Amino acid sequence: MSAASEIESRLQNLGTQFREAFSAATTELQLRADYAKLLGKKGDLTAVLALLRDVAAEERPRIGALVNAFRADVETTFANELKRLAEQALQAELSGLPFDLSLPGRLSFGRGHRHPVLSVRDELLGIFRELGFASVDGPEVELEENNFTKLAFPPDHPATDMQDSFWFNNKVLLRTHTSNVQVREMMKLATRVAAGEPPRLAVVSAGAVYRRDDDVTHSPMFHQMEGFLIDTAVSMAELRGVLSAFAERLYGPGTPTRFRPSYFPFVEPGAEVDVGCVFCSVEQGTRSSCRVCKATGWLEVGGCGMVHPDVFRHTGLDPEKVTGFAFGMGIDRLAMLRYGIPNIKLLFDNDPRFLSQF
Ligand code: PHE
Repeated sequence: MSAASEIESRLQNLGTQFREAFSAATTELQLRADYAKLLGKKGDLTAVLALLRDVAAEERPRIGALVNAFRADVETTFANELKRLAEQALQAELSGLPFDLSLPGRLSFGRGHRHPVLSVRDELLGIFRELGFASVDGPEVELEENNFTKLAFPPDHPATDMQDSFWFNNKVLLRTHTSNVQVREMMKLATRVAAGEPPRLAVVSAGAVYRRDDDVTHSPMFHQMEGFLIDTAVSMAELRGVLSAFAERLYGPGTPTRFRPSYFPFVEPGAEVDVGCVFCSVEQGTRSSCRVCKATGWLEVGGCGMVHPDVFRHTGLDPEKVTGFAFGMGIDRLAMLRYGIPNIKLLFDNDPRFLSQF
């Protein structure tokens, strides 16, 4: 057989082989391997081309054209098969499920929880709810009138000073205590009394208050809870009773309370309220070393007193006919005592490493 016909017949065989192999390929990788096996340096076609040397000169142009046509055929077929595989892959992707929606996520965000101040606030409100007090809200941006004047603060009282309050203008400020709610609720009560209802009210109100104070136990924003009760014959005995019931519910049965005479312009008489130190109860006998109560055995939790006749007058109630008591407590301080938190700033820095401990 001449070299020319040898080449012709081998090309024919290779032609059948590669067409079969290319169309049987199911992956691009496999197709490329088949392609390399044919056209690569050590491929089948190279072996055939080695025979070209022996082809007679007059046959060369024809055989050369044949080889070129073969090569072009391989390239076209290869390109078509590549396209087929790409289309198949696309179809498979489009018709398959995009991803499993039921798989658990890779990022996890821990569940949040209440801020310690809010937990304590709700605990306090819960105790007073059980004692018959309704909870109301009051505004943090307040008129000077409701924050100071109607509460019988004299115009030059140091608390009204620029040093102690955040003023918007000379009439409006951030409330410095929750006692503004007393004023607002008593004015509403006065309207109801005028309409013939009895002068009776038992209310608590918790929220943020603002003062220009800043150290380890004072923050410019902090929280208070106010409580007050109005009726026709309220005495200090009821105030004492309510606050001792409160202390026992908060810190356990037998927790003592004491009043120390003190001055607030809107109560008369007025007192500071102390609760027996929960960190060094007498039974534990550790008082002398207790740093929380400074070895006194008492923790100050707030102020209280009998509503001053002027406050009744300023809110439209008749001090000859109504009586009442009021008290105010620092919620943040109670939270610090409850959780043994040494610095009030920790409560408001919003550091999750700290807050997640509660
Ligand atoms: N409002 C007072 C304060 O912030 C506390 C207080 C409330 C005192 C009610 C007496 C009666 O210091």
